[in-house]
Amino acid sequence: MTFRWGIFGTGQISAKFVAGLVSAQDAKAVMVASRSEQRAREFADALNIPTAIGGYDATAALEGVDAVYIATPPAHHADHAVRCLQAGVPVLIEKPFAANTTDAKRIADAARASGTFCMEGMWTRFMPAAQQLKALVDSGALGEIRQVSGSFGFSNAVDPANGSFDPARGGGALAHLGVYPISLGQWLFGTPVTMAAVGRRGSTSVDEDVSLSLRYASGVIGSFHTSLRSNSANDFRVDGTHGAASFRGPLFRPYGLWHARFQPRARAETASLGRKALLREHGLAQKLAQIAGAFGPRRGGSLNLVGGNGYHYEADEVARCIAQGLTESPVMPLNDSMAIADSLDQIRRMIDDTPRA
Ligand SMILES: NC(=O)c1ccc[n+]([C@@H]2O[C@H](COP(=O)([O-])OP(=O)(O)OC[C@H]3O[C@@H](n4cnc5c(N)ncnc54)[C@H](OP(=O)(O)O)[C@@H]3O)[C@@H](O)[C@H]2O)c1
Repeated sequence: MTFRWGIFGTGQISAKFVAGLVSAQDAKAVMVASRSEQRAREFADALNIPTAIGGYDATAALEGVDAVYIATPPAHHADHAVRCLQAGVPVLIEKPFAANTTDAKRIADAARASGTFCMEGMWTRFMPAAQQLKALVDSGALGEIRQVSGSFGFSNAVDPANGSFDPARGGGALAHLGVYPISLGQWLFGTPVTMAAVGRRGSTSVDEDVSLSLRYASGVIGSFHTSLRSNSANDFRVDGTHGAASFRGPLFRPYGLWHARFQPRARAETASLGRKALLREHGLAQKLAQIAGAFGPRRGGSLNLVGGNGYHYEADEVARCIAQGLTESPVMPLNDSMAIADSLDQIRRMIDDTPRA
């Protein structure tokens, strides 16, 4: 049976999600709600959605939908999600789950009280490359994991019309971008036990740049940074005693996984005085090695191409969980979302404590 989606919000991400449903197993959007009936109608006409609703509190919006995809600004997630959950309608809520810990708890409480499925739309967790990374880490193939690092930043002009810069809508680099490496770290290693952060708030008062050091219970050390004002490598990497892995492609939508295994160095290195060893240090040999490194194939790993635009993986997860009678996804459970919301709140407080030189 076709899974019927309702869509809350007519922003860019709603359009991408609906477009991505063509790659989902058997799903379509049947309703879109907007603050403006006209905007809902335009969105619905452009994307072949039969029902357009003005307002987010109309009960008609929830009729005949199997789940609602909530793609409104983070500050509205709790109100919109709780309304659906209290009506017994499952929700997929765009990341970040909520604007703060209090809102996150409101959503989780409503989901649990009504026994209704609820999941944060951290779509990256469902990408094939991310699934492979998780399996690789859990298998122990990389040895004891010592370090994790990641970054997500885009250079944006400061624009209060852009929700990322609007505190009233739940903006900020952490909420919109930094949540990706933080969520991936939480998935792989659990909730951090120690965090230290420095950051900068901008003219609209949202956090624009954040650098975060953290430690997980297993001893893994993490280093993440995020920015609304500069481009980052947008990478994610895990380093163990016997191997390493990093995403190919941007961390939010990786299309492959580079990974390599090695043995730790057995002992301290001593001087190599042989002819071959000394030849390797010659300038020409060094140059050739650099050219081979720059242009040669990057060995190891796999391509895990993203089918479609990638949003269908999380959509399929929602449909699968609901079909199985689950109220949470084992991949993105409510406790993880609440822990991440709490981490983001803690980091924001640390930024406010950063001395300004
Ligand atoms: N997964 C991803 O790749 C990805 C990418 C970008 C954003 N996101 C997430 O998606 C969510 C929405 O982000 P966005 O950048 O699309 O946000 P946005 O443009 O600020 O808002 C999205 C939509 O929410 C509706 N809305 C409801 N109340 C609003 C209010 N008070 N002010 C403005 N709009 C309001 C608007 O639709 P109507 O005018 O029709 O009501 C608007 O088009 C966020 O949680 C964000 O982090 C995810």
